[in-house]
Amino acid sequence: MASDIRITPSILNADFSNLQSEIAKIAKVSDLLHLDVMDNVFVPNFTFNFERASKIIKESPLPVDAHLMVADVDHIAPEYAQAGCASVTIHAEATKDVSGTLRAIRKIGARSGLALKPATQIEDYVDFIDDVDMFLIMTVEPGFGGQKFMTDMMSKVSRTRAIIGSRPIWLQVDGGVSLETIEIAADAGADTFVAGSAVFNAQDPAAMVTALRELASKS
Ligand code: DX5
Ligand code: ZN
Repeated sequence: MASDIRITPSILNADFSNLQSEIAKIAKVSDLLHLDVMDNVFVPNFTFNFERASKIIKESPLPVDAHLMVADVDHIAPEYAQAGCASVTIHAEATKDVSGTLRAIRKIGARSGLALKPATQIEDYVDFIDDVDMFLIMTVEPGFGGQKFMTDMMSKVSRTRAIIGSRPIWLQVDGGVSLETIEIAADAGADTFVAGSAVFNAQDPAAMVTALRELASKS
């Protein structure tokens, strides 16, 4: 699905016992599948170990956008790129080697993403911009789906958009994105949208992805 707006549904709130059929519901209308990897160390929640994640990546009909919320990310991120992810995002707060890990992801052939928790400022990471294919501005504290969208992150999104300028870097928001909030994020400059509970709690997940895309495209 090629457009300047990307909708990347998160399976965090999908039925984990039936992931293949959950993913099939949104595969035709989505750009990438957002895979939230949590280790119960960097965040107080656990989702997949590498073995389970690898299977999802291998079987996914969509390219996979891995969001690594793990402590040992410098070691783990290249493994996710090697496993076939289209995009691998690391947290600024978890890495000890921002450039080295982003470059390692790219070298394997995946897009490199840098995520910032709500308290982390984009201005502290401007120097790494040449190693970044996507910035992820968290609009909730990472760890759980179904939280409230933090509108006060929109200033960070606008500042990131200004810093990106004409570079071909994607700007993703993650957390609380819904029919009520997606336009606010798009107006602030986001072009890539994670939506978990809004999509998988909807009666018709595919129709929800399409509705979100239409709203985001209006801005
Ligand atoms: C939160 C995760 C998000 C989350 C989004 O730590 O990174 O991707 O699953 O879920 P919703 O859209 O329900 O906030
Ligand atoms: Zn996420």
